[in-house]
Amino acid sequence: MKAVTWHGRRDVRVEEVPDPVLQQPNDAIVRITSSGLCGSDLHLYETLGPFMGEGDILGHEPMGIVEEVGTEVGDLKVGDRVVLPFQICCGHCWMCTQGLHTQCETTQVRDQGMGAALFGFSKLYGEVPGAQAEFLRVPQAQFMPIKVPEGPVDERFLFLSDVLPTAWQSVMYADVPEGGSLLVLGLGPIGDMASRIALHQGKRVIGVDRVPERLERARARGAEVINLDEVDDVGEEVRSRTNGRGADAVVDAVGMEAHGSPVAEVGQRIFNALPKRIVAPLMNKVGIDRMSAIYTAIDAVRRGGTVSLIGVYGGQSDPMPMLTMFDKQLQFRMGQANIKRWVDDIMPLLVDDSDPLGTEEFATHQVRLEDAPEAYEKFQKKTDGTVKVVFKPGQSVAS
Ligand SMILES: NC(=O)c1ccc[n+]([C@@H]2O[C@H](COP(=O)([O-])OP(=O)(O)OC[C@H]3O[C@@H](n4cnc5c(N)ncnc54)[C@H](O)[C@@H]3O)[C@@H](O)[C@H]2O)c1
Ligand SMILES: [Zn+2]
Ligand SMILES: [Zn+2]
Repeated sequence: MKAVTWHGRRDVRVEEVPDPVLQQPNDAIVRITSSGLCGSDLHLYETLGPFMGEGDILGHEPMGIVEEVGTEVGDLKVGDRVVLPFQICCGHCWMCTQGLHTQCETTQVRDQGMGAALFGFSKLYGEVPGAQAEFLRVPQAQFMPIKVPEGPVDERFLFLSDVLPTAWQSVMYADVPEGGSLLVLGLGPIGDMASRIALHQGKRVIGVDRVPERLERARARGAEVINLDEVDDVGEEVRSRTNGRGADAVVDAVGMEAHGSPVAEVGQRIFNALPKRIVAPLMNKVGIDRMSAIYTAIDAVRRGGTVSLIGVYGGQSDPMPMLTMFDKQLQFRMGQANIKRWVDDIMPLLVDDSDPLGTEEFATHQVRLEDAPEAYEKFQKKTDGTVKVVFKPGQSVAS
């Protein structure tokens, strides 16, 4: 089959690789019809290379049709239309029963000290072959697949694999009070969707980014926006719009590659230049993050407010302004999203034909798998209006 594979920093290729096969009785094989490209893939593309292996298959936002099933997959059947969560989870361990699927005790990557295994996400997360491919082996298939109805186009349901529950969790964790305000840092797919969800819930949303079309997407749906490049100080600007207090809550949907942290950017480059075996253990121990978004969050949130970190961070000793965090009496909530925890809450909005979250128009680019190298580059550089790319394996689509 064809698959998108990792070969080095900013080097992804589309290659012929062996088709996946059933390995466990609770495996299934899914033929992928749509597969998203995510800001998290950009971390692998740019910064987390030391944890990747040459030829690793990327991708963790798939949906498709069940092609083959093992003997222990419950009521899953060949031909079912399914979305797969990005994390691999069993559904019956203690963590899964608490709704903490991203900490699943059956799939935790213990030798790396990490939580649940993830599709297409480096050695840190189990080096499980990813979903930007024609076929995917789905472990824990007695629990993993989210069955979705026939009818609407893939994009209506595809984002249940990551973007929708991730954005949903970020808003739930932000815990915006009734009539309160939410500052969303970063208006990539995750921040954009978080804004849509908060607006849908009747909250006041202020979104921040520096990419004009991303700001415009959020503005068009009812968010107030701030262009990073047009203000001296985001915190001051937010306070001026919120009675001098700051936002009740902040979602940081930027993560470790924030724009505006030149020193850490140099650090990330140096790591990229060193041999892998030296860098991987080192990266785990020292700060690798560009912290500008999180510092903005701490500054712009009001005293007693909540910071919800959904952007991915990495290192261990990035300096945090503890005095300010303590003095402002802040609450922090963070982590990978527990996809299955939120599916039942979101599904009613997806089967609603008015499509209140605008899922059908959410992707800006539908492209063939073969166009992955170009799509990664455009998504990273934010050119050609690229906000959300969906790969269409095995289909001919105009790119
Ligand atoms: N926690 C999870 O489960 C989970 C799931 C999916 C994605 N993520 C993470 O969420 C983050 C966003 O993902 P995405 O797909 O939207 O990616 P993205 O890279 O397209 O979006 C990031 C956005 O932040 C903007 N930005 C950069 N620096 C900024 C700054 N200092 N202030 C404000 N905005 C700034 C960029 O212009 C960009 O639009 C990534 O870190 C990704 O890894 C986390
Ligand atoms: Zn993703
Ligand atoms: Zn589990």
